Amino acid sequence: MKVDVLIIGAGGAGLYAALSAAKETKGLNVAVMSKIYPTRSHTGAAQGGINAALANVDPSDNESAHTFDTIKGSDYLADQKAVKYMCYEAPRIVREMEHMGVPFSRINNGKIAQRPFGGASKDRTCYSADKMGHVMLHTLYEQCLKNEVNFLNEWFFLNIAHDGERVQGVSAINIATGETQFIKAKSVILATGGHSRMYWGYTSNALGCTGDGTAAALRAGVPLKDMEFLQFHPTGLRKSAILVTEAARGEGGHLKNNLGERFMSKYAPSKMELGPRDLVSRSIMQEIREGRGFKDEEGREFVHLDLTHLGAKKIKERLPQIRELAIDFEGIDPIETPIPIKPTAHYAMGGIDTNLKCETNIEGLYAAGESQCVSVHGSNRLGGNSLLDIVVFGHVAGLEAVRYAEGVDFAKGGEEILQKDKKMIEELMNRESKETLGDLRDELGEIMFRHFGVFKNEKEMKEGYAKLKNLIERANKNLGVEDKSKVFNLDLQSTLEFFNLLELADVLAYTSLERKESRGSFYRDDYETRDDENFLYHSMVTKNSDGSFNYEKGKVDISMYEPAERVY
Ligand code: FUM
Repeated sequence: MKVDVLIIGAGGAGLYAALSAAKETKGLNVAVMSKIYPTRSHTGAAQGGINAALANVDPSDNESAHTFDTIKGSDYLADQKAVKYMCYEAPRIVREMEHMGVPFSRINNGKIAQRPFGGASKDRTCYSADKMGHVMLHTLYEQCLKNEVNFLNEWFFLNIAHDGERVQGVSAINIATGETQFIKAKSVILATGGHSRMYWGYTSNALGCTGDGTAAALRAGVPLKDMEFLQFHPTGLRKSAILVTEAARGEGGHLKNNLGERFMSKYAPSKMELGPRDLVSRSIMQEIREGRGFKDEEGREFVHLDLTHLGAKKIKERLPQIRELAIDFEGIDPIETPIPIKPTAHYAMGGIDTNLKCETNIEGLYAAGESQCVSVHGSNRLGGNSLLDIVVFGHVAGLEAVRYAEGVDFAKGGEEILQKDKKMIEELMNRESKETLGDLRDELGEIMFRHFGVFKNEKEMKEGYAKLKNLIERANKNLGVEDKSKVFNLDLQSTLEFFNLLELADVLAYTSLERKESRGSFYRDDYETRDDENFLYHSMVTKNSDGSFNYEKGKVDISMYEPAERVY
């Protein structure tokens, strides 16, 4: 199979890339490959909104304020020109989506409604009740169909083929037939989303957020950047860790401990519940650590998100999905009862290293969205900036990939990758399983949550890393595929996904131990403060053939704002 511009992943970044590529090109073939149907992509789980300084609600807002809030929120690890680019693009791209038909909520004058969100100095988050990602995803998919983007749905991406300089294509399994195939491509965009599923059981992420593109990039020799930075969203449902949007607090919800206190007054007196996520998550865990949380019969610890004072009308109009989720997954109606919540692993700030044009170190290979690290979020992303990042950089990646593909022929070779992949799959299929995937996945989640959670320290991380290495060894020896059939072999797929998670967890653990400071989402009890003198750099990791890592320090662009203390 030959495709001129191949996009891997059909979330917001992949679809926006495809749409921009299809609109830009004169006759090239643009295709999106996805392991699921596009409208089921994880972008659909994004709830609260997308940031853009439209100044519809607060006329004093502007792109410069958005840029500064984002840089401050990132704890000064974001690359400042990249942030500026994203924030200045935001109003244009939000209006473009409005014109495509994205059904935004409105204020009385008909303009797009905007709500307050964490770490933002203005009411800047554009929304569609609490289903922003869902409506964006559906609109973008419709637009892709209208613009004749081709779809390879239910194809599982395996690896990137390249000749040391240029991309040649990718290998993938057609899930419906079980065939492993090589797809030749002039340019490839990785838009495969995040990898927070490594916190199995403790994450807001969909089952499919297994970092397939990020792990494949690592195997292909592309550096991964800032992998130690993984964000905990403050409010996940107690039992399932499903996201409860920040919009619940933006609409006036209160966080309360077992004394009924709004404890955020101690930690972020001016922003209260709308402090940035790193700070709010830590505050919740601190309350729990100091005995002011609640504990249920199964030992789960949590605090309350109280919406009861908002009233039924507001909750039904602005937060209908949150109400539904609380009823379905916690058995409580937030109109009457506070929601039990705890921090949930939510977002990978780190990922595939690219420049502002979304280019990697392999010619013709691009990355966009959560799998990419450009970096606009640094060590802590602001809520509402992820939906923005995926469309802004999806757009850039789509245009750049088309321009590249228009100027080249298909690279020769690449098919050899199939031999290696087929052999790897055959070995897995023939290996006798001595341990089950379910057990190993749970174990991974426990290791990551207990040892690389909201609070970390050297001793616990070292213990966790030893456990992780042992788990990786056991998985390599003891984990096979029990379902031997070819058609829709989800056992095989889940096993491959698990190996991707293990590969990335290894990098996360390794880079976490290297960073001896606290910054943004990365907090160490043994190094409680930010150390710009020694650690104001991007960690850059590549993998050697013997499995060891190379660690380099990438420069951070601080050309606009000097790093300063963050106070909220
Ligand atoms: O809280 C939320 O609605 C999540 C938004 C985000 O991750 O940007």
